[in-house]
Amino acid sequence: MIDQRALPGTVNYLTCETWRDVAEAIRNLTIRGAPAIGVAAAMGVAIGVARSQKKTRAELAPEFDEICRELAATRPTAVNLFWAIDRMKRLFSSMPDATITEIREAMIAEAKRVLDEDIAICRRIGQHGAALVPASGSLMTHCNAGALATGGYGTALGVIRAAAEQRAVHVFSCETRPVLQGARLTAWELHEDGIPVTLITDNMAGSVLRKGEVGMIVVGADRIAANGDVANKIGTYSLAVLAKENGVPFYVAAPISTLDLTLRSGDDIPIEQRAGSEITHMGGVRIAPEGVAVFNPAFDVTPNRYVAGIITERGVARAPYEESLKRLTTG
Ligand code: MRU
Repeated sequence: MIDQRALPGTVNYLTCETWRDVAEAIRNLTIRGAPAIGVAAAMGVAIGVARSQKKTRAELAPEFDEICRELAATRPTAVNLFWAIDRMKRLFSSMPDATITEIREAMIAEAKRVLDEDIAICRRIGQHGAALVPASGSLMTHCNAGALATGGYGTALGVIRAAAEQRAVHVFSCETRPVLQGARLTAWELHEDGIPVTLITDNMAGSVLRKGEVGMIVVGADRIAANGDVANKIGTYSLAVLAKENGVPFYVAAPISTLDLTLRSGDDIPIEQRAGSEITHMGGVRIAPEGVAVFNPAFDVTPNRYVAGIITERGVARAPYEESLKRLTTG
């Protein structure tokens, strides 16, 4: 995997030799973004099984449970992590009489399928979303919901990429304090692709929207509740409120695997709290007084009333989301 912590300065590839390496890479943001975390977790389970010394399925079972449990404990908000691990668990359960070799091969093939499917899903999200992009005006996004955050192509950036195939686009990327996914990753990805991008700090978004230059905002998601409330990178909620105030449609692009219809509303979504040093330090340099109290939630919840539509690989869900999201998952 690309070590996203080193971007945009260095494109370093990290090779994970064990499932514990994968767990650490998810925890420390070497790999991040909901769908990419899911792909990594599926690969982590497959590596764990492939490297296990156990000789029978019965001997492997407790180790398999531990691998799944530990990978699931890496980050709490992105539901794609649990979705991918559950998928690997279902496969394991469906092979009660298999040999270790058969299980190994099946796990590796399934993890590769999770990756390939994710790329195809992003392309479909891109197509559905591109149809919503207005003929004029810039696009705006927050955090990084691009190729780096997925198997490839991206969700929100998939929409932008697909639109860029049809017309000239210009993107405002919010820098996304504190970890700067917008500045380091989105600006890098779009720049590498030759899609014109202008980087702004998060607190400039309102001013830019007020000028009327932005035709649409599109962001990704880490978990979407049954009522359409959306958990995404901290700052997304503020952007959605600013969008409504300025009459700019605010869209969320995410795969069906990001839906968590077991949760009634966004209030039930667990929000990850991360180390205060992400806020008190920048590039390893302290910028806040020693000992100061810090609040560092990595995500916020945007209530459904701010969301113009949820763009999935199966189409665009609109309010009322209880009905439209259920239809997308069952239809
Ligand atoms: O903490 P991160 O960088 O993993 O947070 C990522 C986001 O919030 C993304 O917007 C979200 O996962 C969608 S990625 C397609």
